[in-house]
Amino acid sequence: MISSHLLERNHHEHAPIAEFPGSQEASRAVAGEIAALIRARQQERRACVLGLATGSTPVSLYAELVRLHREEKLSFANVTTFNLDEYYPLAPDHAQSYRRFMRTHLFDHVDLDPARTHLPSGTVPKPEVDAHCAAYEEAIAAAGGIDLQILGIGRTGHIGFNEPGSPRHSLTRLVTLDPLTRRDASADFGGDLATPRHALTMGVRSILNARRVILMAWGQHKADIVRQALEDEVSPRVTASFLQEHPNALFVLDAAAAGSLTRHRAPWLVGPLADQGLAWDERMTRRAILWLSQLKQKPILKLTDDDYNEAGLQDLIRAHGSAYDANLIGFYEMQHTITGWPGGRDPAKAKPGDAPVRPLRSGSAGTFPKRVLVLSPHPDDDVISMGGTLCRFVDQGHEVHIAYEVSGAGAVANEAVWRLLAFGRDSGLTNPAETARLNALCTELASDKPVPSTPELLRWKALIRRNEAIAGARVCGVPESRLHFLDLPFYEAEARSRRYGPADVAVLSALLNQVRPHLIYAAGDLDDPHGTHRLCLHVLRDALAGAAKEKASWLAQSELWLYRGAWAEWPLDEIDLAVPLSPQEVLRRRRAIFRHETQKDQALFLGEDRREFWQRTEDRSRRLAQAYNNLGLAEYEAIEAFKRYAPADFAVSTAF
Ligand code: F6R
Repeated sequence: MISSHLLERNHHEHAPIAEFPGSQEASRAVAGEIAALIRARQQERRACVLGLATGSTPVSLYAELVRLHREEKLSFANVTTFNLDEYYPLAPDHAQSYRRFMRTHLFDHVDLDPARTHLPSGTVPKPEVDAHCAAYEEAIAAAGGIDLQILGIGRTGHIGFNEPGSPRHSLTRLVTLDPLTRRDASADFGGDLATPRHALTMGVRSILNARRVILMAWGQHKADIVRQALEDEVSPRVTASFLQEHPNALFVLDAAAAGSLTRHRAPWLVGPLADQGLAWDERMTRRAILWLSQLKQKPILKLTDDDYNEAGLQDLIRAHGSAYDANLIGFYEMQHTITGWPGGRDPAKAKPGDAPVRPLRSGSAGTFPKRVLVLSPHPDDDVISMGGTLCRFVDQGHEVHIAYEVSGAGAVANEAVWRLLAFGRDSGLTNPAETARLNALCTELASDKPVPSTPELLRWKALIRRNEAIAGARVCGVPESRLHFLDLPFYEAEARSRRYGPADVAVLSALLNQVRPHLIYAAGDLDDPHGTHRLCLHVLRDALAGAAKEKASWLAQSELWLYRGAWAEWPLDEIDLAVPLSPQEVLRRRRAIFRHETQKDQALFLGEDRREFWQRTEDRSRRLAQAYNNLGLAEYEAIEAFKRYAPADFAVSTAF
């Protein structure tokens, strides 16, 4: 039920919010509201007009509506639908068309009359576009207007395809897509070139005309834009912010998408913590002190009572006695995250006076050497995200395994295959009978025309990435015998329809039982543009839950650490382990990243940031070192950071 998850509004938030622990529950609640509306209209013998969205967000909503139809006899016979948008130009049967999406996820599985389903047409001739858009508006009006409009939100803040700058009075029209939107879509279209530049979309006004609007958002990668839409002033820069002006709009969020709201990031600004069921525990104290240190641009130990008072943190001082005492708590909490020995020291080489090894806690804290398992969703996430730490583990004598979870074939440009095939053709190494075929393939791959992704081509691409991973791991000193290429089956499906299942979990479980790791490092980065990291984390969660159920003996000895990945760093207050790197280690990590040649200048999925991965990695880890230094801690060349999860907690966590 939505109503039981409605948040009490605070003065930072300008529209109602319902927050759920996970997107599945949230989708079920929204489906419940839709079903209730459809049924109410049926009783009144009236039509129900729904405004629908596409994209990854509503997939679970549509799955639930289909379930309600099949199992609870929800009929769609009285439903009329209008979709927000369609790429332009694009044929309705194109694999990425929104018409096709709607058929796949909803229309073909319920008793909706196809004649009552409406989407803007991606094939209408250019001169007729304006008339077509006007007719779309008229059709909505003729149906009596939209009763309930479902929305997702793009990372540009768009609703529909109303990109930044779209005015409040805009109606259905032809628009140019924002580069960030195109990049997010390019995974589905198989690269930048094949991604449409335009779309037809309902306008801001067409959306606001709906009697009820529900915007849904899931995941960390939406958290910042959701905060802007809800907490900043209304502006065409973030078109979702216009919902603040709607009398009956609701934001339905999962915990991750709500994570940047002031109520979560800085709850002391919302009101007394006790009133919010919170307390000044160590975490909260550290978070507030880091926030204050950044606000005042002062190292922690220089913060004064006045600084705390002025920033509204009187409560915190009261809880800890004085700024001096509070400062020490924040300072030591951060200091204790730092260790150059992430796997602990060799007890045989211990000297009196060695600094204590922090922050290992598990039953294996004293074990040396440790078995370390690094889980790398794509073949380069290991070195990009924690290449320096990986080298440290090897150099300090631990047994390091790396498991590459998916092949990453989808991110290899045809040109990379062409180069290798041309080498094969010309080197004399291949069977002469193959020459003609290789030649034909080379000509095809070298042309600008899109080449269909045959299983053979994908196999070659996977092989290229596998060898890059082997070369990268070699730079870090991990031998091929400790590399595990899992090829999780979920990756075989098309990007948007990927789902993981028992087959994926079984593969990872088998590896965990084989390696019996003391330390597991996994990507906790949920910002990757097409969700592979998120799926890999789900697979891990289920595999660990399985191990807990089977009472696997290695589990009690094991710790789980999450790295954040190529796209972002953990916020300072969430870091539990910070591994400093020397300038030499930074260079070695760079060499390891360089081994992933296909992901350099021709990388297909760089995301928002156009710099190469090694540049981002260095910038990210240097900036983190700088941030530590600004807090008044030691000055390092670079730092790689991790967040701890107790596998047992993680196994039951719904946060992902
Ligand atoms: C789709 C649409 C878009 C998406 C938005 C979020 O019909 O109009 O506004 O809702 O781009 O996309 P996902 O859900 O894929 O993150």
